[in-house]
Amino acid sequence: MNDTTQRIGFLGVGHLARCLIAGFLKSGLPADRLMLSPRGQAPAIAAEQGLVLAESNEALVEACEIVILAVRPADAAKAVAGLPWRDDQVLISACAGVPIAALAEQAARPRIVRIMPVTAAEICASPTVCYPASPDITDLIARLGSVIPLSGEADFETATVSAAVYGWVQKLIQISADWSAEQGLSREAARQLSAGIFIAAGQTVAASEEPMEDLLAHLATPGGITELGLKHLEAQMVDQAWAGACDAVLDRLTKD
Ligand SMILES: NC(=O)c1ccc[n+]([C@@H]2O[C@H](COP(=O)([O-])OP(=O)(O)OC[C@H]3O[C@@H](n4cnc5c(N)ncnc54)[C@H](OP(=O)(O)O)[C@@H]3O)[C@@H](O)[C@H]2O)c1
Repeated sequence: MNDTTQRIGFLGVGHLARCLIAGFLKSGLPADRLMLSPRGQAPAIAAEQGLVLAESNEALVEACEIVILAVRPADAAKAVAGLPWRDDQVLISACAGVPIAALAEQAARPRIVRIMPVTAAEICASPTVCYPASPDITDLIARLGSVIPLSGEADFETATVSAAVYGWVQKLIQISADWSAEQGLSREAARQLSAGIFIAAGQTVAASEEPMEDLLAHLATPGGITELGLKHLEAQMVDQAWAGACDAVLDRLTKD
């Protein structure tokens, strides 16, 4: 990786930035490469991790070659406006539903790249979509997990829905763990089992090139317990409910 000589600034230091910073440090990025804008959790994180706290957003942009924007979406355009951007910089936005054009209106000079990490970046396990993708940026983001380059911004909005799915899957893990605990498993065994089953399912799908219908067909043997439960879920129209939730999120990202 050739990213260790560049200074990376965080503009907006809240929940997501905390996870990205933890992941970068865990990946071996030297702490003196990271700089934080002054608001939010920045003073606490800077003190905890020995990072540089910028005096102002202007000072951050002056000092950094790469700036990661992690303010709330409604604050994004305002946060990048009026700062001393240069042509040789990259502005990486993690803000959901904020198009490149909306940022470029306020910050015309830097190259703008969008990423959509999830909090698993903290343990370097975030599948992170990136648009437009270039090796300098994907090398950096690969420190936080796998990188999935996308070829258009419409695809990026669709892919952003998966950042919400990440939370829904945690809800499923919780439902499953709670049910097991109610039947008598210890809370810790129920939690580890439920999380482990979801990890195993994901890893199996990711590692295989077989069509997903075939993978599932191998599991759902006629008359077996997997088939029994799938029939129950289908009768409750879980597929439609799930797709409806995805539609609602995509509408919010693209139409609001
Ligand atoms: N949380 C996630 O899991 C997640 C995942 C993927 C993407 N994202 C994206 O990441 C972004 C941040 O989300 P979050 O959950 O980390 O939000 P958050 O915890 O509210 O953090 C946002 C931070 O930005 C600061 N801020 C706002 N305007 C600023 C400015 N002009 N200069 C400097 N700092 C400023 C806020 O400070 P104040 O508190 O002082 O206003 C706050 O500390 C969002 O756009 C979201 O779409 C989040």
